[in-house]
Amino acid sequence: MRTVWWEKGKVILINQKKLPEEVVYVECEDYHRVAESIKTLEIRGAPAIGVAAAMALALAAYQSNATSRHALRKDLTEAAEVIKATRPTARNLFWAVERVLLKAESFEGDVSEAVEGIVTEAVLMAEEDVAANKAMGTHGAMLLEDGDVVGTICNAGRLATAGEYGTALGVIKVAHEQGKKISVIALETRPVLQGARLTAFELMQDGIDVKVVCDGAVGYLFYKGMIDKFICGADRIVVADDCYVINKVGTHTVSLVAKQYGVPFYVAAPLSTFDFQHRLGEVEIEERDSREVTNIGKRRIVPHGVSVLNPAFDITPPEFVNAIITEKGVIQPPFKTNLKHVVP
Ligand code: MRU
Repeated sequence: MRTVWWEKGKVILINQKKLPEEVVYVECEDYHRVAESIKTLEIRGAPAIGVAAAMALALAAYQSNATSRHALRKDLTEAAEVIKATRPTARNLFWAVERVLLKAESFEGDVSEAVEGIVTEAVLMAEEDVAANKAMGTHGAMLLEDGDVVGTICNAGRLATAGEYGTALGVIKVAHEQGKKISVIALETRPVLQGARLTAFELMQDGIDVKVVCDGAVGYLFYKGMIDKFICGADRIVVADDCYVINKVGTHTVSLVAKQYGVPFYVAAPLSTFDFQHRLGEVEIEERDSREVTNIGKRRIVPHGVSVLNPAFDITPPEFVNAIITEKGVIQPPFKTNLKHVVP
């Protein structure tokens, strides 16, 4: 049940572009192939691309011909630039690259010891991600009651992380394991349909009841009282501005409607998603290829000559968020102040 892993000098990942029709794995033999997978959404979801980025750097180290620490550092810096240029928004990607580079600097021994240490670090980061998600699920499950119908957007499950639980879906899975009857309403999540394709696939595999709805149906479902709670993941939480949540486009719209109808809106994210360095204005919101909007599958649905906008993420201000679930506990507003209790 892993999404990405290290195996005998290769990085293996599930090709999410092929889901749900086919379960196909990509064997990455060099870091450029991992970078391509991140760019093209073969692997996606903030924690998953963080772990993939760490493993890509491990691959760069593993394949380096460097005979000195200086030469290895040069190879890693080059690889880091390629990896960082894949997608701009998820904090985890940059967090992971920074962590591996820092680790690489900390070794005393020769090149082979450093390479081994870097690979070990990347593998450890995958294990830590799985453990963090499980802990997050345990904290978050306390917010769910038996019989709850929980809405979610995009895919914030095992496919969006190193594997097993996931973030928002991890909360649901732990509640389910505890014997609570939880059913899920998954927003299809145009344009790439991570909700319809991936969340539905994953929850079905886990035996959790799921219904897919068009994104535009969410207002009606809140109006009818058909959603008790909403949980999403995050690509970046900007701490300096009291924890604005950057997540899949459409998230902010849902948060507004949830507030209007008094439905709790929760965000589940590991600390590796929190950005302690930048202000909101410094974060790039990824603008993706217009073909994601103009086409559905092979069919063009927008007339030729008409231009489109395709921001992949949006920004939800903290006043629309009832709580943020982390591996260290559930943080209530005011988030920036209360975050200090879990990250001193
Ligand atoms: O474009 P994607 O599929 O990488 O976007 C993913 C999301 O927006 C997720 O909600 C987010 O990364 C959190 S996943 C645990």
